[in-house]
Amino acid sequence: MKQGPVLYEGKAKIVSQGETGRLIHYFKDSATAFNAQKKAEFPGKGALNLAISEVVFKALTAAQIPHHFIQRLDERSFESMSLQMIPAEVVVRNRVAGSLAQRLQEPEGALLSIPVVEFFLKNDAKGDPLVSEDILVAFYAQRQEDLQECRRLSLAVNQAVRPLFAAAQLELVDFKLEFGRDDEGRLFVADEFSPDTCRLWDVSTGEKFDKDRFRRDQGDLLEGYREVLKRLSQQ
Ligand SMILES: Nc1ncnc2c1ncn2[C@@H]1O[C@H](COP(=O)(O)OP(=O)(O)OP(=O)(O)O)[C@@H](O)[C@H]1O
Ligand SMILES: [Mg+2]
Repeated sequence: MKQGPVLYEGKAKIVSQGETGRLIHYFKDSATAFNAQKKAEFPGKGALNLAISEVVFKALTAAQIPHHFIQRLDERSFESMSLQMIPAEVVVRNRVAGSLAQRLQEPEGALLSIPVVEFFLKNDAKGDPLVSEDILVAFYAQRQEDLQECRRLSLAVNQAVRPLFAAAQLELVDFKLEFGRDDEGRLFVADEFSPDTCRLWDVSTGEKFDKDRFRRDQGDLLEGYREVLKRLSQQ
């Protein structure tokens, strides 16, 4: 496997050039929250996030949802397609939590009668603000049709992945996706799907198994992520 130069180092991963048209994503062990104001190292987190992401990407394959994951390379690296990223984070919510609870001043856990899709501008310097699809078109040069397709794919991911977690006695409260386009303009689910980027609550006790453990100092983060993988692996 040819590993080229590092193209980007983010907070969660290091992305390098792979074979032609491909990238290699290396999952780091660090966790950040509140736009990197809070940081810590969790040895083993990277491998857990990759293993959980792999389970989810395989479920997307089964549901015929296009995604960038090609193959796992080792404990903490995987190979993906190289895409032109849409500069947005697309969030799907099944219950009120996190920033939505704050914005609406409503209690965490309130059920939403339909899954809600929200777009945030992917821009750490600006604090990833909530934006409308129109703003992404009018100011950030995105195509309306692409955003509609992102929305459709995001809801399809929700439908495909919710039952997977439900079978593991975990409720998928919300999650964040990123999308990219290939040379022909086709859209693919990109990046990762892990407890860093979603909320998972135990269906009976409500115990949190995601990054909120770290954000809110509610229990051992690694123990939560290990439990997610263990339950998914038992399916
Ligand atoms: N298939 C892909 N092609 C091109 N870029 C991708 C692809 N999948 C993911 N990316 C980008 O690779 C980077 C992954 O690194 P990482 O998640 O650490 O960065 P970050 O998102 O800036 O940081 P954080 O996740 O902490 O906000 C992101 O910028 C993401 O948008
Ligand atoms: Mg990221």
